[in-house]
Amino acid sequence: MNEIPHGELQQQTFYELVGGEDTFRRLVHRFYEGVAGDPDLRAMYPEEDLGPAEERLTLFLIQYWGGPRTYSDSRGHPRLRMRHAPFAVNRAAHDAWLRHMRTAVDELGLPPEQRAQLWDYLVYAAASMVNTPG
Ligand code: HEM
Repeated sequence: MNEIPHGELQQQTFYELVGGEDTFRRLVHRFYEGVAGDPDLRAMYPEEDLGPAEERLTLFLIQYWGGPRTYSDSRGHPRLRMRHAPFAVNRAAHDAWLRHMRTAVDELGLPPEQRAQLWDYLVYAAASMVNTPG
């Protein structure tokens, strides 16, 4: 996945702009609450405890938006499409994933421009993760 290009004069990363680690932790925690309450989507997650998956997605998003590179320090290059290959990401899974993410993004209460930047990325990234027809 390519980085969204940032202007060279930008002083602050998007990560800092939206409130740093706390914001991404809140986002992904809320998202996984949605997953936990969605039996169809929940069935795709192999681990009984969603905590480690929550941590991986949190650290990935922190890194993607310009925060600490802890994700790659522990997991290596993201290669997200490849990492999703074991899971049948079809249209229904895509829609459910985005639906829970939408709730989580909305509840952050970000200013509209920041909200749109985050949301547009998630829509684009989710589409690129679909690997199964139907
Ligand atoms: C389109 C619907 C999607 C579905 C159904 C889905 C499902 C899953 C599942 C079942 C896992 C395994 C849980 C784990 O062990 O971590 C996973 C992992 C992960 N997903 Fe997704 N995902 C989707 C989209 C996305 C998107 C859009 C992103 C990024 C913006 C993303 C980022 C990640 C990351 C970072 C991991 C952990 C990778 C690792 O380090 O092993 N996923 N996803």
